[in-house]
Amino acid sequence: MATRHFLTLKDCSPAELRDIIKRAHELKSLQRSGQPHSSAEGKVMAMIFEKSSTRTRVSFEAGMAQLGGHALFLSPNDTQLGRGEPIEDTAKVISSMVDIVMIRTFEHDRIEKFAADSSVPVINALTDGYHPCQLLADIQAYEEARGSIQGKSIAWVGDGNNMCNSYINAAAQWDFELRIACPEGFEPDAGLLAQHADRILLTRSPSEAVRGTNAVVTDTWASMGQEDEKDNRNQAFEGFQVDDELMSQAASDAVFLHCLPAYRGYEVSAGVIDNPETSIVWEEAENRLHAQKALIEFLLSQ
Ligand code: CP
Ligand code: NVA
Repeated sequence: MATRHFLTLKDCSPAELRDIIKRAHELKSLQRSGQPHSSAEGKVMAMIFEKSSTRTRVSFEAGMAQLGGHALFLSPNDTQLGRGEPIEDTAKVISSMVDIVMIRTFEHDRIEKFAADSSVPVINALTDGYHPCQLLADIQAYEEARGSIQGKSIAWVGDGNNMCNSYINAAAQWDFELRIACPEGFEPDAGLLAQHADRILLTRSPSEAVRGTNAVVTDTWASMGQEDEKDNRNQAFEGFQVDDELMSQAASDAVFLHCLPAYRGYEVSAGVIDNPETSIVWEEAENRLHAQKALIEFLLSQ
């Protein structure tokens, strides 16, 4: 049977994704009540980080330990990847020694190349194109706060980046409407937009996107690798900050989500992200741990 990977949300069926989130809720309860759940005993995960991380590294490493397995951190600085060993060769070798691999890298086709030569499951822990693990945590957080996301209306305000692309995939997989507001020139993937046009609104107006929605989501205006574009981007995104005025146009029980790290005063005001009534960003961040443990169990059981 072909090795299962998790490079985008489309690598799982809607039913499989629902099962993963269901298990994530269970694993969260087990973890909180101190009950053992060592379903990955003796299993080893290689974690390849070609970009920085706080949440992703801690959640995968802690998650593997809690499941009874082990995780090893690999960066280009101290592996032969940084000295130009082909990704395909690296994939063959690493996957011959471990049970599962997690990669955070730049171009999405780099992880596709690795996966093509990997004999074990590969998890996308963020590429320039997608951040599917974050969406598992976001959906879990939304469900905890407000119940099923199916049929709801979600607003994305800001950059049409890797998170926005993953929200488009999530809208299709969990069956919700996505209303995207981004400045001209910062749209999400055109192919994805066209493919899911039936459930997506694309506008230049944050107000139009947010009006009456059940959740408002944003992310940094300058993703990793775009540090040189910061000044230009700050100008281009003027008027796209999620602040109290914008949140007040959403549904009265709307929640605010952000994958973090957040830049208060830019894509979100401090008032919105630090408002415990509506902001669920801390639950969202914690759920990276639980949702990825569920994903690891799923992939190891295929
Ligand atoms: N949200 C997220 O992926 O955070 P890190 O970059 O800290 O891993
Ligand atoms: N869009 C951001 C997400 C960080 C978790 C980035 O790619 O840097």
